[in-house]
Amino acid sequence: MTVTIVGAQLGDEGKGGIVDLFGEPADVVARYQGGDNAGHTVVRDGQEYKLSLVPSGAVRGKVGVLGNGCVVNPRTLFDELDTLRERGLDPAVRVARRAHVVFPYHRALDGIEEAAKSDEGQEVGTTGRGIGPAYEDKAGRRGVRIADLTEPGTLRNRLEYVVPQKRALAETVFGVDAGERFDLETLYEEYREYGERLKREGMLVDSGAFLADRIDAGDDVLLEGAQGTVLDIDHGNYPYVTSSHPTAGGAATGTGLAPGVVGEEVVGVVKAYLSRVGGGPMPTELGGVTGDTPGYTEGEGPDEGVATRIREAGGEYGTVTGRPRRVGWLDLPMVRHAARTSGFTGLAVNHVDTLAGFDEIQVAEAYRLDGERVETLPATASEWAACEPVYRTFDGWADTDWAAVAREGYDALPAPARTYLGYVSDEVSVPLYAVGIGPGREDSVVLEHPL
Ligand code: IMO
Ligand code: MG
Repeated sequence: MTVTIVGAQLGDEGKGGIVDLFGEPADVVARYQGGDNAGHTVVRDGQEYKLSLVPSGAVRGKVGVLGNGCVVNPRTLFDELDTLRERGLDPAVRVARRAHVVFPYHRALDGIEEAAKSDEGQEVGTTGRGIGPAYEDKAGRRGVRIADLTEPGTLRNRLEYVVPQKRALAETVFGVDAGERFDLETLYEEYREYGERLKREGMLVDSGAFLADRIDAGDDVLLEGAQGTVLDIDHGNYPYVTSSHPTAGGAATGTGLAPGVVGEEVVGVVKAYLSRVGGGPMPTELGGVTGDTPGYTEGEGPDEGVATRIREAGGEYGTVTGRPRRVGWLDLPMVRHAARTSGFTGLAVNHVDTLAGFDEIQVAEAYRLDGERVETLPATASEWAACEPVYRTFDGWADTDWAAVAREGYDALPAPARTYLGYVSDEVSVPLYAVGIGPGREDSVVLEHPL
């Protein structure tokens, strides 16, 4: 069977830990979208592994698959694989022949376009990994797929068409010196080499056929979403989104498995509060981050003290970029939207330990927009920015012996934390499967295991 793990918010919900927890009995872990913009941390035997492209299951001896919906930067892929091997692991990773390739010119153009937009205050605050430009080329039918790297003639033809266009775009439209990131011969040689290596190491698969065969053979497959629902290019907060589908529908199109197959169990991962990296509205934001929070003046957020405390306690700094994350209270209209869009069958709520020590915890149970009460996410960024949170206040919980809670189970959680969790689960009508109370997979309470 399959389990699909989806971020319910804006990324960084702690999906890596839940993939690790629920993926324990799984044989295969597959990603279905995104690229090296993701950042997942897996703790194994006290060692921390930070990955951005390789599926986190690969740290645990599972077969990791990068599905056709991913955009793959081969440099990052091989860097991560080499690093894992140097640390004594033997990761087994397969890459879909239909996945698209991220080239250095995609990264360059990501930065160039963000800089141009920032002159108008319109930047998205991307991770700068070239993700948007790579998906643009995919949709524009000028992309290079992984399989093309293994056919030198095809690779050269495609690069001959696309590289001069990219160079012209950088130089003529944006007025930026293109440099060697746009040099056809250099790119051709380097990427042909990656194709050789992918072939040599037996990494190439048709992801749909590969995964369906494994499922037919009785294997359990975990589908690992990156980013989160509100970063989905359709269901997210456009244009402050990534260029793929982190929602459960993406798990079907991004692997080649059928919707019914990927929809069996869909676990929505929720952080007990909210964080955001990059620009765009965030109605429950407490403090702010200069450069990311629109119109923000340092020190003038609604509750900077609480924001700072949560940020420090939760280690809310980007895995990929190291930048401080914006922090706010849990936003339930967002989680309702996520539950509907992906059909969550269970919830995993993380970082319950991080919120310990506050007298009171707030949750936006709804918004007020133009005098009306709104219970789910509006379609446009401007409407969302105009939403005032309607808060419900809960008693906080004290710090406790979390290791003991992990041993003893749900009833050992502080009573106010159980009240809070029960409320969230009831509001979205989705049962609670797990509660995260620390970074490792041992640091969790499981109520129901989907596998
Ligand atoms: P994980 O997998 C949080 C955000 C960026 C930016 C927007 C578009 O760790 O949850 P992109 O580089 O994808 O074009 O950037 O999406 N973003 C993330 N935010 N966690 C992530 O991944 C993210 N990946 C992209 O900050 O606002
Ligand atoms: Mg992350």
